[in-house]
Amino acid sequence: MHRPGTSSFTGEECLPPGPVGAPQALLAAWSADPYGFLFRCRDAHGDCFTVDLGPFGKRVVFSAPRHLKALFTAPEGALLGARGNEVLAPIVGKSSAFVLDGPAHLACRRLMLPAFTGAALDASGSALLDAVDASLQEGGPTPRVVDMVEYASRVLLRATVRLLFPRGDAGLIEGVTAALGDIGAMLRADTGSMGAGMGGLRAGKARLDQTLAPFLAGRRAALQSAASSRPDASHMGDFVDRCLQAGLGDDAIRDQIVTLLAAQDASATTVAWCAHFLFRYPVIHAALVSAAAEVDLRAPGAEIFGLSHFVMEVLRLRPPAPMASRGVGRPITIGEYRLLPGSYAIGAILLAHHRVETFPHPERFEPARFRERKYSQYEYLPFGGGVHRCVGFQFSPYELQLVLGRLLQRCHLAPADASDVGDPRASWRVATTSPSTGIPTKMTVRSERA
Ligand code: HEM
Repeated sequence: MHRPGTSSFTGEECLPPGPVGAPQALLAAWSADPYGFLFRCRDAHGDCFTVDLGPFGKRVVFSAPRHLKALFTAPEGALLGARGNEVLAPIVGKSSAFVLDGPAHLACRRLMLPAFTGAALDASGSALLDAVDASLQEGGPTPRVVDMVEYASRVLLRATVRLLFPRGDAGLIEGVTAALGDIGAMLRADTGSMGAGMGGLRAGKARLDQTLAPFLAGRRAALQSAASSRPDASHMGDFVDRCLQAGLGDDAIRDQIVTLLAAQDASATTVAWCAHFLFRYPVIHAALVSAAAEVDLRAPGAEIFGLSHFVMEVLRLRPPAPMASRGVGRPITIGEYRLLPGSYAIGAILLAHHRVETFPHPERFEPARFRERKYSQYEYLPFGGGVHRCVGFQFSPYELQLVLGRLLQRCHLAPADASDVGDPRASWRVATTSPSTGIPTKMTVRSERA
C-alpha cells in the first residue's frame, strides 16, 4: 500500500511520496482550493507527488515536461480518459468525448473537430460578434455591474446555440437556449466540490430532450429523403446533421450538445479572468483598447495586436482546467514511477505553467514572454494533450479574440469596486475552475457600433 511521505512499492507499483492525511480531508482540501492545494503539494514534494484519496484512488500528479510527454503519449489503453473524467459522466453523458476511449472516442472527435477548426472558425465569427452586440443592447442602461462569468456564459451560450442550429426556428433556439441555460446554472450553483450533488440535472436534460426531439426527427427525415447530399463539413451548423448521418440517436446527440455547453464554461471563465488582469494592468488595458479601435473584427483573420499573447498569459496563470486526468487501464511507467490500474495519472497543467525552468518569474504577468519564446506542447498546455486534447483548441482562442475584442471596442470595463481589484481564488465549478467572485465588472457601453 502507498505510504504517503515515502516512495512505495507494492509488487510493481512505485509512486512518489505525497501529502499525509485522511483521504476525506485531502479531497476536501483539494476541492476547496484547487490551485492552492497543488501549489502546497509541489512546494512540499516537488514535481511529482501522490495524493492518496483512499476509495477514490491514488492520484499521481506530474508536471515536468518529460513526465507530461510520457503521460500524453501513453500506449493505447494504458491511460483512459473515461476513468480520468468519470466525475463528468453524469453531466455530459456516456456518449461524450470526455468519457470515451479507443475507436468510439476517435469517431466522436472526428465528428466534432471539423466544426471547430479550420474554415469553420471564420464562419462562426459573425454569430460571436452579434451575440456580444445583442448583450450590450439588451442589458438596459449602462453603467451596470455584471458578474463577468455569468455574462460571458450567456453570450457564449447564445452564440453557440445559433451556430449549432442554423436551421432552427425561433422556438427551437429559445427552447434549447433556455434548457441549456438552466442546466448550466444548476451546474454552476454546485460549487466547491469536484462534481458532487447534481440536483435537477436530469430534469434539465429531459427538458432539452423534449425540445430537441421534433427538430431531430425533422432533420433525420430531411436527410433521408436527400440521402445523396452530404453536408459540407466546414461549419458548426453541420454538426448536428453529421451526427445524424453517422447514426447517432437523440440521446447521443444531446450528450454532444451538453458537452459543448460544459466546455464553453472554460471560455466564459477565461473571459472573466481576462477582465481581472485588464483591471490589474491598466497600461496593458489601455494599449489593448487602442489596438482594438483600429480593427474591423468582421474582416476574415482580424486580430487585435497583443490580445492573443494577453489571453495566452491569462491561460498560463489561470488555466480553467488546472489538470488533465487519466485512469490507469494497464500498468504504465512514467519516468521513474510505475502506476497500476486503480490509480490515476494527473497532468498538472497549472504546475507546468509555473515551472521556473520554463517560465522565469512564473508569478509575473508578462504577455511578452509568448513573443520572445515558443513553448513546447508539454511546457504550455492550457488545452491538455494527447488524444483527449481539447476539441476547442483552435476555436477558443478565436472566440476569445472576438468576444474580448468586441468588449474592448464597445465598452469601458472597470472593476465594480475600483478600490479593490483583489486577487480572487479559483474555485471549482464542476468541470472547470473559475474566479470565486465572478469578477464583478462595471460595464459602460461607449458606442453603438465599433
Ligand atoms: C479557454 C477555453 C478552453 C480551455 C482552456 C479548454 C481546456 C480543455 C482541457 C484542458 C481539456 C482536457 C484535455 C485533456 O484531458 O487532455 C478539454 C477538453 C475538451 N474541450 Fe476544451 N477548453 C476550452 C474551451 C473549449 C471549447 C470552446 C470547446 C468547444 C468546442 C471545447 C471542447 C472540448 C471537448 C469536446 C473536450 C473533450 C476532448 C476529449 O476528451 O477528447 N473546449 N478542454
